[in-house]
This record gives sequence, structure tokens and C-alpha cells, in this order.
Amino acid sequence: MTLDHVGIAVKDLEEARQTYLTLGFEVGPVEELPERKLRIAMVRLGESNLELLCPTDPDSPVGKFLAKNGPGIQHLCYRVDNIDKKIEELRAAGVRLIDEKARPGAHGTRVAFVHPASVGGVLTEFCEHARA
Ligand code: CO
Repeated sequence: MTLDHVGIAVKDLEEARQTYLTLGFEVGPVEELPERKLRIAMVRLGESNLELLCPTDPDSPVGKFLAKNGPGIQHLCYRVDNIDKKIEELRAAGVRLIDEKARPGAHGTRVAFVHPASVGGVLTEFCEHARA
């Protein structure tokens, strides 16, 4: 498994993009994820990325995170070859899942979240990238 990305909750996506551009990173374009009530932008680091997450609705998971904690690291995501198999393994191991089935993530990925209660307080995501 590889660390795919670190999800960072931000209040202002343009300001956050500018911050990382100023730090010298390569920052991708804004992507709209209406089904997750998010606008996101990826900061490219090579194998791993930062995922800047800006909620479009205060009632969404990231919106609630921002209200409670303010901006900052929101989740870690690990890349796997087969998300369906991973979900089955996690379920069999008694891990508390937020997503019982994989759902669409950003740019063609399929993702599933594990409840932070099962991972020492860390909201944890697994993702499978579309095969080329
Ligand atoms: Co993510």
C-alpha cells in the first residue's frame, strides 16, 4: 500500500491553491465533486498528493469538520489494487466502515472510508485508481 494523498480541509480553495503555489508546489485545477458537496484541487508531489478540500455545503462531512476543527488535515488515503477486496478484508476484520461499498472519488478513482473510531481517531480512506 502507498500513501495516495493527504486530505486537507480549507475554507477558501483559491487562497489554499495560491498558498501551495507560493510554496513552490505544482497545483492542479479545481475539480467539482457535487455528489460529495466538495470542490477540490490536488497538490502534486509525485507518488503522493495533497488533496485540498473545500466544502460547498456546511452540512457536508468536510463542512462539519471545518466548523468543529477549523482548517487542517482531515484524512489520509491509501492506494490499493482492488478496493472491493480491501472492503471485504476490512469487514471480515471487524473494522467499522463508513462506506460498505466503493463509491466514485476524484478523477476516476473508487474510494471507501473507514470510521476514525477504528483507526485511532484518523479518518482513513482507501482508493483504487482506474486501470489504464
Ligand atoms: Co481523499
